[in-house]
Amino acid sequence: MSNNREQWSSKASFILAAAGSAVGLGNIWKFPYIAGENGGAAFLFIYLICIVLVGLPILNIEILLGRATQKNPVGAFKTLTDKPFWKYVGALGVFASFTILSFYSIVGGWSVAYTFEALKGTFSSFDNPQMAADFFNLKNSSPMWVIGWHTVFFLMIVGIILSGVRAGLEKASKFLMPVLFGILMILVVQGLMLPGADGGVSFLFSPDWSKINPQTFLLALGHAFFTLSLGMGAMMTYGSYLSEKDDVVNASYMVAFLDTVIAILAGVAIFTVVFSSGYDPAAGPGLVFHVLPPLLAQLVGGYIFALLFFLLLTIAAVTSGISILEVSVAYLVDELKYSRKKATLTMGMLVYLAAIPCALSFNLWSDVTLLGTGLTFFDAADFLASNVLLPLGGFFLAIFAGYVWGIDEVVRNLLIGDSGSVYFGNSIFKSSSFKSVFSFLIRYLSPVLIFLVFLYVLGWI
Ligand code: TRP
Repeated sequence: MSNNREQWSSKASFILAAAGSAVGLGNIWKFPYIAGENGGAAFLFIYLICIVLVGLPILNIEILLGRATQKNPVGAFKTLTDKPFWKYVGALGVFASFTILSFYSIVGGWSVAYTFEALKGTFSSFDNPQMAADFFNLKNSSPMWVIGWHTVFFLMIVGIILSGVRAGLEKASKFLMPVLFGILMILVVQGLMLPGADGGVSFLFSPDWSKINPQTFLLALGHAFFTLSLGMGAMMTYGSYLSEKDDVVNASYMVAFLDTVIAILAGVAIFTVVFSSGYDPAAGPGLVFHVLPPLLAQLVGGYIFALLFFLLLTIAAVTSGISILEVSVAYLVDELKYSRKKATLTMGMLVYLAAIPCALSFNLWSDVTLLGTGLTFFDAADFLASNVLLPLGGFFLAIFAGYVWGIDEVVRNLLIGDSGSVYFGNSIFKSSSFKSVFSFLIRYLSPVLIFLVFLYVLGWI
């Protein structure tokens, strides 16, 4: 174990930080609109299957690889195998951290900006979502506005990372996650009390099976990766600050559980408002920034609800943003022996600049599309990360764990650490039937499903 590498002060701190990474814009901005566009409950059902059968096993593997090696993704693979190929898989993770943050930080910037607009009371003058959409487009037509808020968001992340694992990442999550949960509960309760709220609830919980097609499945799988922060070494990096006495299996359940519950609660908070005002749940990516502000602001006490909602979105974005940047920072610290300060400032600067083309996608460069894909920089970064880099990372992780490191070694490591619980901890791996199910999921089911997603994304099936 490297001598002065920092560690979380407890398993609970790790769970909060990892849940902070998992619970992000994916839960509050993306999940509701993807579910909205794909039939609500039908999508939710498939998504839950993907979380349990693919997400959870891979989450265990990622955290375990971090804990076992106490290294960033590149260092982790280097420690466990001599084959140079795997080093590049780790490097793919570092590259993905760049790509994701370059568009994530733009949406994070919007969230901060909207918190300020809510504070100023801007939304109370909007009578309908069209006005809010015009406002959004007008603001985004100014490169300075988008870049400015991206800068504010970025400074927040860099500030937290500079303070280190305990004083930065851990402290921020310990403070922010309970606040996030408290705000969400307030919004859920107020949503449920609205007239017509049951329309929103049944949209989310009574499935219309006719809405399910192969596309639903692929979207759900891709989103399962994104929402659990899998496939690029973020969970591996967080796991690398975990000590051997902490049970990975139990922590993984907790993180996946919290992430899923929070996504569903966000869905309830949002769809109750949307349905009670009679709007279309399938509003797409604009759901949160166009449809919601006027609807929230028109409620009794709407000023507070709009403010709380964007604060919630900002907190979710910040605690996830730090986990994305931490991957690249840990790489520089472990592999190139940079100090944390130098690593954070170097990577922070590079990723900050890499995000500028995404910021310009809404104004100066809105006509610039990449290599015949028809996608702007922003859309391309989202597409490349969510549909290519993360599933690819997940695929290689499953192959590595199942065939290179080997299931026996994985299970031997998973059994290290104490959960103190039979059903919700690693002791479940003492049962040989559970072990074979796990082995099947990692060696066969995950790689095959991910492979199919690829063929589909590439347009081959
Ligand atoms: N899981 C976060 C969300 O739902 C996003 C995120 C944070 C992420 N870290 C990641 C996604 C690492 C992929 C990989 O918004």
